[in-house]
Amino acid sequence: MRRRCPRSDQWIYQFDRALRTLAPPTARTKSPVPVSSGDKTLTAFEAHHVAGMMRVNHSGEVCLQGLYQGQRLFTQRPDASAQMQQSATNDLGHLALFSQRLRQLDSRTSLLAPCFYIASLSIGATTGLLSERLGLGLLAASETQAARRFSDQQSRLPEADQTSRTLLRKVAVEKNHHAQLALEAGGVNLPAPVQWLMRGAFKAVSKTTYHG
Ligand SMILES: [Fe+2]
Repeated sequence: MRRRCPRSDQWIYQFDRALRTLAPPTARTKSPVPVSSGDKTLTAFEAHHVAGMMRVNHSGEVCLQGLYQGQRLFTQRPDASAQMQQSATNDLGHLALFSQRLRQLDSRTSLLAPCFYIASLSIGATTGLLSERLGLGLLAASETQAARRFSDQQSRLPEADQTSRTLLRKVAVEKNHHAQLALEAGGVNLPAPVQWLMRGAFKAVSKTTYHG
């Protein structure tokens, strides 16, 4: 069994993760978003629409980072903690990809990202404190919700934007995998009313961030 890190090391780790989530992602991803050869020039309206969706997705990744890090503060099982760390690290790559896509579209991430991170960190810590299985269930439901959003967005992208379509398809697959891992680690399936509440909360985030 792995030895748990001292509490002080965990706080340093959490601080590092917060910085990585909220700081500009200049060198965070090894492979930048590859621009598809099938792309055509987007109109100003189309570029604005795609940037809105990418900004919503970036905010969603910030929320996921907060949930993972909050949950990990109180996770007792080293294997579950390691699994969450692996998924969260993978998601940092997603976050960087959405940020890069926004820059390719000459746009930016939401100014409210730090608020989303703090709110999600609090929710993750609270559920982690209440029950590890509940926290893992919340992570699984959040990942599944993100994967569904990416699938939905693929149908709303302009035909000319193959780059964003490829990006969404790739990230959706990984989100579903993370959801599966969280359930396998012991996460419970959340009751429908809780999932409705989560969808409502993320709709509010989406409406706030789509326009900037
Ligand atoms: Fe994920």
